[in-house]
Amino acid sequence: MTQDELKQQAALRALDHVIEGSIVGVGTGSTANFFIDGLAGMKDRIIGAVASSEASARRLAGHGIRLFDMNEVDDLPVYVDGADEIDASLAMIKGGGGAQTREKIVAAVARKFVCICDASKKVERLGRFPLPIEVIPMARAQVARQLTLLGGRPVLREGFVTDNGNQILDIHGLDIADPAGLEIQLDGIVGIVTSGLFAKRGADVLLLATPTGVQSIER
Ligand code: A5P
Repeated sequence: MTQDELKQQAALRALDHVIEGSIVGVGTGSTANFFIDGLAGMKDRIIGAVASSEASARRLAGHGIRLFDMNEVDDLPVYVDGADEIDASLAMIKGGGGAQTREKIVAAVARKFVCICDASKKVERLGRFPLPIEVIPMARAQVARQLTLLGGRPVLREGFVTDNGNQILDIHGLDIADPAGLEIQLDGIVGIVTSGLFAKRGADVLLLATPTGVQSIER
């Protein structure tokens, strides 16, 4: 089975978590795209969706799914999104697609975060995947210095601008022994908009696609 087929299996299983007659929070990335395509099959049974990126918004709109602005939504039963890495506590690294700021906002409002992954994303310890950090452009050098002091090796994602007009530093070599502690530390660095660490608000359910089936792991 290919990695894409595994991603699709996890994504389609997440449809079981969608509450009919509600607005659905929708993530970003190749796995989330499979979820969006699956959601199209039940678009008449939901009110619509909130997207965590312009790319997901375009894909949802292409399927005729009604889009809501996050500011219009005060109850979001479920948010479905992928991850770049996820550990046993369901803490994650996200932001491989540079969308972690909007993803974190939608996840913060959602009552349940359903993470959809192929088995390659499950790790013992977070950090092999470089941690994406969205930065205000004028703060890039100051943030890079702070992250170097923390033991990381920041690399600017060349030619990439986030949906919010900012830049991404990918931090290599961080030893993430305490994901929630590091997330709090990063939140305190001036110039960082959002780190790709999702530990304070991790996933509630992981749907992990393996060659022998989709495992559902709850926090
Ligand atoms: C987007 O910014 C990310 O957080 C994605 O959710 C993450 O990179 C997973 O992407 P794939 O589903 O494409 O692996």
